[in-house]
Amino acid sequence: NGADYVRIVEVGPRDGLQNEKTSIPVATKIELVHRLAETGLRTIEAGSFVSPKWVPQMANSSEILENILASTPQSSHPITYQWLLPNVRGLDNFLSVWQSKNTGQSAYPTPPPSPGAEDGPATNTSSGAPITELSIFTAATESFTQKNTNCSIEESLKRFEPLMARAKELNLNVRAYISVALGCPYEGPNVDPHKVANLAVSLLEMGADEISVADTTGMGTAPKTAELLKTLNAAGVEKNDIALHFHDTYGQALVNSVVGLEHGIRTFDAAVAGLGGCPFSPGATGNVATEDLVHLFHSLGAKTGVDIEKLSEVGEWISGEIGRANQSRVGKATLAQ
Ligand code: HMG
Ligand code: MG
Repeated sequence: NGADYVRIVEVGPRDGLQNEKTSIPVATKIELVHRLAETGLRTIEAGSFVSPKWVPQMANSSEILENILASTPQSSHPITYQWLLPNVRGLDNFLSVWQSKNTGQSAYPTPPPSPGAEDGPATNTSSGAPITELSIFTAATESFTQKNTNCSIEESLKRFEPLMARAKELNLNVRAYISVALGCPYEGPNVDPHKVANLAVSLLEMGADEISVADTTGMGTAPKTAELLKTLNAAGVEKNDIALHFHDTYGQALVNSVVGLEHGIRTFDAAVAGLGGCPFSPGATGNVATEDLVHLFHSLGAKTGVDIEKLSEVGEWISGEIGRANQSRVGKATLAQ
C-alpha cells in the first residue's frame, strides 16, 4: 500500500549514545536532539533516567529535558520526546524537572498513525509544543533482565505498576520495550515467542500504549521475525500496538523490517548513523541506521516525512563528534552524491 505512513522512532540520543565510554558533552547531545528534530522525524527518544552507576553516559539527561522544555519549537508539527525509565525513582527524577519546567504544556497522547494517511498522523495540537512520553523496559529472558535491571521478569512488572499508575494520572503515554525478543546474549538465539507474546499482553493490560519488540542482539532472521509476529497476533496483540526495534549486528535489520511491514507493522525504531549498542549485551552493535530504514520505506512507496539529506548530514556530524565511523550506508552514499 503505497500511501501508508510509517512512523520512525529515533532512538539515537538514548540507545545510540548510552554505550559510549567517553563522556559526551551535554551540549553535543542537546544539539543532536535539536538537529534530529529538524529532519522531519516526529518521535525522538532523548535520554534516560536510569542509575548513573549502571549507565554513566545518561547521567545528564535531566539537562537535556530542561533544554527541550525551555526551547521554542522550530518545527511546524509537534515532536514527541520519549524518556526511558527503569523504576519509580527514575520517574521521580524525571518529574522533578518536568513538573517544574513544563510551563503550562499538557501532555497530549500521541495520536496513533492512521493507516493509509497521506501525510502522517493527524495532530491534536497546532502549536508545535513538545509532547512527552515515557518508556519502560523489561526482557524476554530471566538472565538478560537480571543483567540489565538486577531483577526477575516478574519483579520488573511489579516495579512498573506504580510507575504506570502515576504516568496515567499525568496523562503521559508509556511505551514498553521487550528486549532479547529474537535472541539473548546469555540464553542463545532461540527465545520462545510465546514468552514475548505473554509479556506483551501483560504490559498492555497494565496500560502500556505501545510495545517495542526489540532484537537486542541482532540474532533475528526473516523467518523468526515472521514467527514472532504471528505469535503476537495469535495472542491478540494488535499490529498498531507493536513497534519493531532492530539492532543490526548480523546485518538482518532491513530484511526483518520488510517482514514487519508485510505483517502490518507501521512503527520502527532506528538510530541515526547506526549509533549504539546495549551495555548489557556484549558485542551487540547499533540500531539499524535511520537513514537506511527511511530509504527502504521510501523505496517501497511509504511515507516517513523524513528528509534523508538533512538526516545524513546529522549522522555524519554526530559520528565525527564521538569519533566513530558512520555506520549508515545510505547516509554515506547520499553525502557522496
Ligand atoms: P539496583 O542497583 O538494583 O538499584 O539497580 P537499587 O534500587 O538497589 O538502587 C541502587 C542505587 O541506585 C541507589 O542509590 C538508588 O537510589 C539508585 P545509592 O543509595 O546507592 O546512592 N537508583 C537510581 N538512581 C538514578 N536513577 C534511577 C535509580 N534507581 C535507583 N532510576 C536499576 C536497578 C534498575 C536502577 C539499574 O539496574 C538500572 O538503572 N538499570 C538500567 C540499565 C540500562 O539503562 N540499560 C540500558 C537501557 S535498556 C536497552 O538499551 C534496551 C533497549 O534499547 C531495547 C533493546 O534493544 O533491547 C530499550
Ligand atoms: Mg536497543
